[in-house]
Amino acid sequence: MIEKKIVGEKAVEFVKDGMTVGLGTGSTVYYTIIKLGQLMKEGLSIKGVPTSIQTEKLANECGIPLANINEIDYIDVAIDGADEVDPQLNLIKGGGGALLREKIIARAAKEFIVVADPAKIVNHLGAFPLPIEVVPFGVEMTNKQIRLLGAETTIRYSDGIPYRSDNGNYVIDAKFPNILDPISLEHKLNLIPGVVENGLFNQMADVVITLNAEKSIVIKNAHEK
Ligand code: A5P
Repeated sequence: MIEKKIVGEKAVEFVKDGMTVGLGTGSTVYYTIIKLGQLMKEGLSIKGVPTSIQTEKLANECGIPLANINEIDYIDVAIDGADEVDPQLNLIKGGGGALLREKIIARAAKEFIVVADPAKIVNHLGAFPLPIEVVPFGVEMTNKQIRLLGAETTIRYSDGIPYRSDNGNYVIDAKFPNILDPISLEHKLNLIPGVVENGLFNQMADVVITLNAEKSIVIKNAHEK
């Protein structure tokens, strides 16, 4: 999709020589990673920290050297996609199942840049089912606890068996009616035993790159809201 390519490629402007860069997962940040690979051939020097095995493979194919997250002090900038972005720049992420590593890496970054085609921009989070990573043990019990918070839920399947994240966990997709208080919901979900992490990324994005109705690039800055 051309919109994903435009916003994905724009994000490379936030990457400077020598940086350690968090590399997100998905079909939008794909274009960022490809572009970074091209820039490296022209002399850019960076290290990447991938948010998934899929992205690790892509970075290797693009010739981007990788840093071990346990051997660095911080990440200069992390770039990632989103499934929904609200006016406060709170996000739903995890449609691709990579939410846990994505959140660890976004939190470790000095600057978190989100690349989102206009279809991702919403007034309220929640039309997109919220991905929640849970441990396999007791999944039905954990699922019940999530439902008690008001969601309709489904355990994610892939090829007829429960989907497993890169961390070996299951993912429950939870459809809440409009999420009016994402900060409270993020905390409530993470207090349920069995929940490892959920896909609400509240007050984390510093910048969202998207397009307006005229298809021009728009840079939303969290600190200018
Ligand atoms: C991956 O788990 C997700 O958080 C993605 O970042 C999100 O689903 C956006 O993906 P696309 O860029 O493919 O729409």
